[in-house]
Amino acid sequence: MCGIVGYIGTQAATEILLSGLEKLEYRGYDSAGIATVWEGEVNCVRAKGKLHNLRSKLEPVATPAQIGIGHTRWATHGKPEEHNAHPHMDMAMRVAVVQNGIIENYRDLREELKQKGHQFISETDTEVIPHLIAELLKTSSSSSLLEAVRQAVNHLEGAFALAVISADYPDELIAVRQQAPLVIGFGQGEFFCASDTPAIVSHTRAVLSLENGEIARLTPLGVEIYNFAGDRLRKQPRMLNLNPTMVEKQGFKHFMLKEIYEQPGVVRASLEAYFNSDRSSIDTPSPVNLGLPPKLYSDLEQIHIVACGTSWHAALVGKYLIEQLAGISTQVHYASEYRYAPSPLTPNTLIIGVTQSGETADTLAALVMEKERRQDKEPQYQARLLGITNRPESSLGRMVPDMINTLAGIEIGVAATKTFVAQLMAFYALALDLAYLRQTAAKETLEKIINDLHQIPQKMETTLASQESLTEHLAHEFADTQDFIFLGRGINYPIALEGALKLKEISYIHAEGYPAGEMKHGPIALLDAKVPVVAIAVPGNVYEKVLSNSQEAKARDSRLIGVTPVKDGEAAEIFNDLLPVSDVDELLSPILTVVPLQLLAYHIAARRGLDVDQPRNLAKSVTVE
Ligand code: AGP
Repeated sequence: MCGIVGYIGTQAATEILLSGLEKLEYRGYDSAGIATVWEGEVNCVRAKGKLHNLRSKLEPVATPAQIGIGHTRWATHGKPEEHNAHPHMDMAMRVAVVQNGIIENYRDLREELKQKGHQFISETDTEVIPHLIAELLKTSSSSSLLEAVRQAVNHLEGAFALAVISADYPDELIAVRQQAPLVIGFGQGEFFCASDTPAIVSHTRAVLSLENGEIARLTPLGVEIYNFAGDRLRKQPRMLNLNPTMVEKQGFKHFMLKEIYEQPGVVRASLEAYFNSDRSSIDTPSPVNLGLPPKLYSDLEQIHIVACGTSWHAALVGKYLIEQLAGISTQVHYASEYRYAPSPLTPNTLIIGVTQSGETADTLAALVMEKERRQDKEPQYQARLLGITNRPESSLGRMVPDMINTLAGIEIGVAATKTFVAQLMAFYALALDLAYLRQTAAKETLEKIINDLHQIPQKMETTLASQESLTEHLAHEFADTQDFIFLGRGINYPIALEGALKLKEISYIHAEGYPAGEMKHGPIALLDAKVPVVAIAVPGNVYEKVLSNSQEAKARDSRLIGVTPVKDGEAAEIFNDLLPVSDVDELLSPILTVVPLQLLAYHIAARRGLDVDQPRNLAKSVTVE
């Protein structure tokens, strides 16, 4: 959460920083600010709210400075007011700092600095940093900004990424990474730092991700990397495979809508990457090609999956697939709970962390905890960690030895859509691979599933085409509704949860997802004519049950909206409104049934005039606990 960006070079920094911050606004948008060094002074401009407020404030006062730092904030300590906005400065206004993360010992540091005469104007944890750096520059042996920052970070506890400039060191920008992401960009005579690559990809594709405990010194002449002990490190940038147009709306009103429409392409890319192209026979080798080492699978007795939010929903679908196809007992945990209350240790256990960003603090911490508690145990208890992420270069990517890269491309909308579908595809491939290797399903069954999966992109396109006007029409009717219930069972229960989450997070309408059979145990008391019920009913194992549960809701006057295959006559009679999907096998249906729910949430939020891509209080990358 929070986005930071920095620039040093030969161009005017302000516009580069602002356009970088635009690409990072998904990380938080409670306030924004930039600081530049010009004519021996730090010029710092900050504004509450979104970036356009900062832009208007800057227009009359922007300088041609060629060095600067910028920040877009997701408030942790202190309200989203201007005095809490970054950059923060020392009392003499010579040092400016932007931070992403949390300084856990900031209260102690603040007290110590107060005793030395420092006065603070914000409620943030960050403000101690420029004061500390200024103090070190004044009193200690630090003879350079780099050295003062190095000494300062050794006093800080927590997870943070920083960028620092000073009026007294106009040719130096210091960037620090400690458990919060930070990349350095290498241009021609100009250098960048940013929380994420989209902020710099229009300037350079040569990037270096800092590791934890590293400090970068950027000058117009180049970049030097050090560790926190002050030793110089030798590192080379790599070339990014990210096209700047991927981070544009391309004619869509919102990124979320564009990303929903990109889903058939995501499924195609996943099929191409995960499955062998010759599908005429599934004889050895496995029809699935995930490139995972056999030791990850050998003697597997248990799987634990840790994730948050939408990734947790994808993991629930994964559990269903792995248990039903490969017969391996699988548990799905909220990472934020699991890290403090893990299951008893079991042998031969695969731990999967699912996170599209690869930066979710709770998911990373749960994986670290699992690794640490297993490291001194017998071989069968050793951690086998697998990551599923859309950002292989992320912290997760660097932490786990094995990964399934999801192939959604960059996702900008805060509400996850195409990355969810990409995660589902990763789980289909994993479950099929395990089933094949463990011979838990007949070859013909696996062959049919794989062939049917290859029909999904086209079915998704048909579903998308038929849904646009239907969901828009329903959005018109439900724009002022206060509560929604989403029902599903079996493999579509997680889709009910996901439909409710999408609606909550972008439309601010209260919504709950339930397993349809649970309604009668309490939640049915919520129902009346004002509470619409969206039920996912796909012919298969639990179809008749879902239809009966839907009838129970209808009998309580709820308006019933059915997400169900086109041809089903019985469903058409029960539901007041239909959101039909293409005909599909129940096992593969989540990839299709989620689409109308995403569109419904999108159109309701758009109809309510809300900021679909940047809903209030949220951030795309949740890097704090
Ligand atoms: C999804 O729409 C949400 N914005 C959120 O629940 C998200 O899925 C969650 O924060 C986990 O993110 P991750 O996949 O990057 O770990």
